[in-house]
Amino acid sequence: MTSVLIIDDEEKMSSVLARMLAREGCDAEHTSSPKDGLKRIMQRHFDIVLSDLRMPEMSGIELLERVQHISPSTDFVVMTAYASVQTAIETMKKGAIDYLIKPFPIDELKLLVKRLEASRNLREENQRLRDVIRQSFSLEDMVAQSSQMRDVIARARKVAASNANVLLRGESGTGKEVLAKAIHNMSPRLREPLVVVNCGAIPDTLLESELFGHVKGSFTGAIENRKGMFETANSGTVFLDEIGEIPTHLQVKLLRVLQEGEIQRIGDSRPQMVDVRVIAATNRDLEQAVANATFRQDLYYRLNVIPICLPPLRERREDIPALITLFLRKFTPQGSVKQLSPNALDLLLRYDYPGNIRELENAIEHAVVLSEAAMIQTSDLPLQIQNFDWSRSSFNTGASVEGMRLDEVEKQCILAALEKARYNYTRAARHLGITRRTLGYRIQKYGLQDIIEENMRPLRRVKEGG
Ligand SMILES: Nc1ncnc2c1ncn2[C@@H]1O[C@H](COP(=O)(O)OP(=O)(O)OP(=O)(O)O)[C@@H](O)[C@H]1O
Ligand SMILES: [Mg+2]
Repeated sequence: MTSVLIIDDEEKMSSVLARMLAREGCDAEHTSSPKDGLKRIMQRHFDIVLSDLRMPEMSGIELLERVQHISPSTDFVVMTAYASVQTAIETMKKGAIDYLIKPFPIDELKLLVKRLEASRNLREENQRLRDVIRQSFSLEDMVAQSSQMRDVIARARKVAASNANVLLRGESGTGKEVLAKAIHNMSPRLREPLVVVNCGAIPDTLLESELFGHVKGSFTGAIENRKGMFETANSGTVFLDEIGEIPTHLQVKLLRVLQEGEIQRIGDSRPQMVDVRVIAATNRDLEQAVANATFRQDLYYRLNVIPICLPPLRERREDIPALITLFLRKFTPQGSVKQLSPNALDLLLRYDYPGNIRELENAIEHAVVLSEAAMIQTSDLPLQIQNFDWSRSSFNTGASVEGMRLDEVEKQCILAALEKARYNYTRAARHLGITRRTLGYRIQKYGLQDIIEENMRPLRRVKEGG
């Protein structure tokens, strides 16, 4: 429904026009005072302001400037007598969208309102398509070299075609949000909106209105009717991030959407039907929350129709090299992609990433920004990686060496043992179950001297510094 505000100091003129537009299905208000008009525009949104040009309180041009400031998306139309057409043209140069010469047949106004509505729809559609493109993340953009991620992608591809609810699980930074976007973009709903709601970031008191909307006056501060996210996402997808944070009283209402496809704005007596696909995500232990009765079991079952688990990065190390390449490209300005020194690469391959892909991404950005040469050194990496307690690394446990050549494995073991022994060769050799001489020999054989030298540098610096 198009909303129009008519401002004309001739009270009769504005009220007649408002009545006619209301008959056409518009939501029309009118006032004879430009100041009052501005006050209303501050309180609610109007698609169109239809204003006289010459008024005692304020000129149409001044009014236009102020409306543009308060509500840039409002279309401003001026009405004027034939004698001041020139001024009307001036206002168009300043941003008015059209003008009407008084007296005008009412059909001319109706036509204009229709035309503006069509162009507004087009604008909104454009904006939405731009949003879709901006947030588009297809499975092709996702790194999935590891067998675990290939399984995840295969599963996502299958469920995308259906309407089933999906629950994405995984530690922070494992890619739940990008996977949700990819599922939406591969689903038949791809041209419809994808609305992301971060349930953990919105205060409990606002969450209900965010999700389901409200009607004007239903609580203090509800100054106009407002659509909720479910309505906005109608025929599309809602991504409920951090679903584990949703308070219990809203869990019931959420269940109703999932079961009945019904929502109710706060303060509205009538429910409305919506058609949405729900993808939820959590890094919490929902089963535990169900056991503690902080998460409803029926809701859990509804959401958990198709669970997809994103494994932590340290359990799918085969993805690390491809992610590194991806992020080096992303953060290096065109042309000169920076390289990693063998030692820096080695640390990145062995680190455990409690923050998963996001942590790796940040580490690469950090390194690219800090490194002065074309080659990124270990000292350019974030401290939590440089100072990582390698003895606790999951790197040397069986799974990660799968697919490595035997001499590679041996090299990695030697480096890890040295790291753990803080480069005391005797201790490292003991740890490896070989003599110190054999260790020396292997180091030479594999040409590890330079790497060791560079790995030791930060340690020395720490000693010298403190
Ligand atoms: N498979 C992937 N390939 C490439 N980039 C990825 C992949 N997965 C995640 N990313 C990138 O890693 C970062 C974190 O991903 P995302 O925000 O989806 O994680 P999340 O699981 O939602 O994290 P949180 O629980 O902290 O919200 C993003 O910048 C994303 O682009
Ligand atoms: Mg997320």
